[in-house]
Amino acid sequence: MLRRNFLLWGAGAAGVAVAGTVYYRRRADVWKTVYAQGVPYSSVAGILDGSIDVLDQPVQLDGQLARLYSFNGSIPGPAITVTPGDAVRLRLNNYLAEPTNLHFHGLHVAPTGHADNIFLEVPPGESLQYEFTVPRNHPAGMFWYHPHLHGRSEKQVSMGLAAPFLVRGDLDQLPEVAAAHEHLLVLQDFPSLNPGGNMAGMHEHGGGTSRVAVTGRYNPELTIAENGLARLRFLNASSSVYYRLTIEEHPMHVIATDGGGIPAPQAVDELLLVPGQRTEILVRGERPPGSYKILSTPSPGMMGEAEGSPAENSQPIAFLVYEGRSERVWDIPSRLIDVPALPAPTAPVRSFVLSGGGMMGGGMMGHGGSYSINGQGFDARRIDTTVRLDTVEDWEYINTSRMDHPMHLHVNPFQVLDAHGQPERAWRDLVNVPAGDRVRIRVRFRDFEGTTVQHCHILAHEDNGMMATVLMVKEP
Ligand code: C2O
Ligand code: CU
Ligand code: CU
Repeated sequence: MLRRNFLLWGAGAAGVAVAGTVYYRRRADVWKTVYAQGVPYSSVAGILDGSIDVLDQPVQLDGQLARLYSFNGSIPGPAITVTPGDAVRLRLNNYLAEPTNLHFHGLHVAPTGHADNIFLEVPPGESLQYEFTVPRNHPAGMFWYHPHLHGRSEKQVSMGLAAPFLVRGDLDQLPEVAAAHEHLLVLQDFPSLNPGGNMAGMHEHGGGTSRVAVTGRYNPELTIAENGLARLRFLNASSSVYYRLTIEEHPMHVIATDGGGIPAPQAVDELLLVPGQRTEILVRGERPPGSYKILSTPSPGMMGEAEGSPAENSQPIAFLVYEGRSERVWDIPSRLIDVPALPAPTAPVRSFVLSGGGMMGGGMMGHGGSYSINGQGFDARRIDTTVRLDTVEDWEYINTSRMDHPMHLHVNPFQVLDAHGQPERAWRDLVNVPAGDRVRIRVRFRDFEGTTVQHCHILAHEDNGMMATVLMVKEP
């Protein structure tokens, strides 16, 4: 059924031209990068046309050659920008020696066919054209794409396969947001680049010796104008690290969550970013011009929480640097994007019990053992949950294990319920479920029939079973 084209590529193939790009001979000692790195794709006249080559060859990472996987030779992969209503055509060319595929994390698009279908598998040397339409009413926001092959997700994402997928719209048009200096901060840690074999296990969350690459650079300088605003768009593309972020002497004003803008900015001193999560903030250039650290500190709530005070464990991951002066003094806006609260469901609450992981320390990864949802490990052939389109449901995650699980649902965004059962006015596709705790979400299933999944976004947990299918069907 798959439209596959075999590509003339393999170890030792020389100078093969594919879609206008010349691939050089793969030899153990000679690698040539022929890609213009990080060249982004934007839609033109309602169509996003692009090709994504999945490569296993050294790439430039902050001026050093690094042995990673990449999309088009770039870490992170090329940013894709679309507007609601656009048609997306993305050709995936798999040059790895293993199968792969793509998932469009957070997008409200079809989970079937050649769209956001994680059950597709592209074998080594083959291609697949992904095609879908971004709905006209899709919220603007920061989404992303990465491989999603059960059993290989952790490896392929931690090897570097991740890239932003931006939907431009309402939020971008607010005057304050449009005037701000925009910076994408794609946070990646690369366990394979840390000599000494620190595999970023549960005990090293956010701390330890592993360095955090910020959109392919270490400690980049991000500009802000005096009296102006900076818009920092964070994506946690690490497969297991929790980041807790602060900025020296600057309050952070959250303007968007995973699924787009929120009704009004929320000032926070600290930002928790669980694996897969996005958060956007505005910062005001209100301090004396200079350079201010953006710091990452280990997250609480994990097993093996780091000792000592957060300050001792914090490390700079980037710098906010004043450059120039805004003619106008910009303030944080008071209103952003209306997010209506989802209505209460009529059906009973569905429960999902998260368990597994055993006593830890089983393997090098620190993720040993198997993981399950409602006592079952993932099976693509089994339908675990069937929901009807145009209905609202409350789901409860009950975490019986000794570690946190950031739970993620594909296709339909949700609202997290507070202790009183009130939905947060924000769209999310990830919610952290702390060890021994429970969390409720409210979700409306809309537009797309078919089978998709929910899973833990600590990708080793997903690969080891903590994923379940969700079948969406029309009302009879
Ligand atoms: Cu970012 Cu199902 O994943
Ligand atoms: Cu996803
Ligand atoms: Cu987990």
